[in-house]
Amino acid sequence: DMLELNFSCPHMAVEGAGHHVGQAFDLIEKFTSTVKQCVSIPVIAKMTPNITDMTEPAIYAKQGGADAISAINTVSGISQIDLDGFIPKPNVFGLGSVSGTSGPAIKPIGLRFISDMGKCEELSLPLSGIGGIETWIDALEYILLGASTIQVTTGIIHYGYGIVEDMIEGLTDFMNEKNISKVKDLVGKALPNLKTTDKFDLKRQGRAQYDLAKCVGCGQCYTVCRDAGGFALDWDDKNRRPVLIEDKCLSCMICSFVCPVPDIISYKEMPGTWKRKDACVMDRSLETQIKYQPFKSS
Ligand SMILES: Cc1cc2nc3c(=O)[nH]c(=O)nc-3n(C[C@H](O)[C@H](O)[C@H](O)COP(=O)(O)O)c2cc1C
Repeated sequence: DMLELNFSCPHMAVEGAGHHVGQAFDLIEKFTSTVKQCVSIPVIAKMTPNITDMTEPAIYAKQGGADAISAINTVSGISQIDLDGFIPKPNVFGLGSVSGTSGPAIKPIGLRFISDMGKCEELSLPLSGIGGIETWIDALEYILLGASTIQVTTGIIHYGYGIVEDMIEGLTDFMNEKNISKVKDLVGKALPNLKTTDKFDLKRQGRAQYDLAKCVGCGQCYTVCRDAGGFALDWDDKNRRPVLIEDKCLSCMICSFVCPVPDIISYKEMPGTWKRKDACVMDRSLETQIKYQPFKSS
């Protein structure tokens, strides 16, 4: 039905192959136009994430006649080392190599590149989103950032083709709930809300709020608030529950990311008159750091 040109495999050591092509933009254009001259079916150029800006090579592919862009291929990485033989895995008769990392860990990278290309007016080609997709939510996130089709590799290897049916079912339920009849109505829907941080309204502020009825008392919020937040939680030992000191909360919401129970911690916008104490300056003082040191130095 179509051809996808893999300009992005990180395993190719040969010049002019795999992700070496994806990093030499004139070759992308040349290879794409050569293929386009030979076939009448659509041609997709598959991009490497092992670069900083994907819009530029994608535009070269467009100049070569590509009908669509797919992204991402695997991210160059080293996943494990055999600690007995000191050999990076996969161990190929005593040698390892920098190789392609895939699966959920690379989804944020894939979403970023798809959104960059989705926003690029000069490119304006259909996008196929790839990278860490396992569920209908992953698929939808790619669609919302500009992908009109999606592809799955590692998810299928791991869980089998059944996950495709699950994705269709989940996405269908979501669309029915939201009264959306066509997937194409969702393509790029999140892009207008994706801005650089200088566009944020920093005059608005808020804090975390806790629905403790569902709390399991694990204490992870308390620990993380002391490690990386504003020291805005006390701990009620008797009931094993966090106690929010509202005016010390930095609204970083890091507590909500570590909480294992959904919907306990949410964000509450506060009125413009609301003042928080300067928790960072106050609590990150040397005195406090010494107080919370786990071990006393000799
Ligand atoms: C075992 C394996 C083999 C792959 N082979 C190819 C390939 O032959 N051509 C290609 O363009 N991409 C290949 N890829 C990359 C995937 O198509 C995909 O771009 C990447 O793995 C990210 O998606 P995923 O997280 O769903 O796996 C391969 C990936 C894996 C894990």
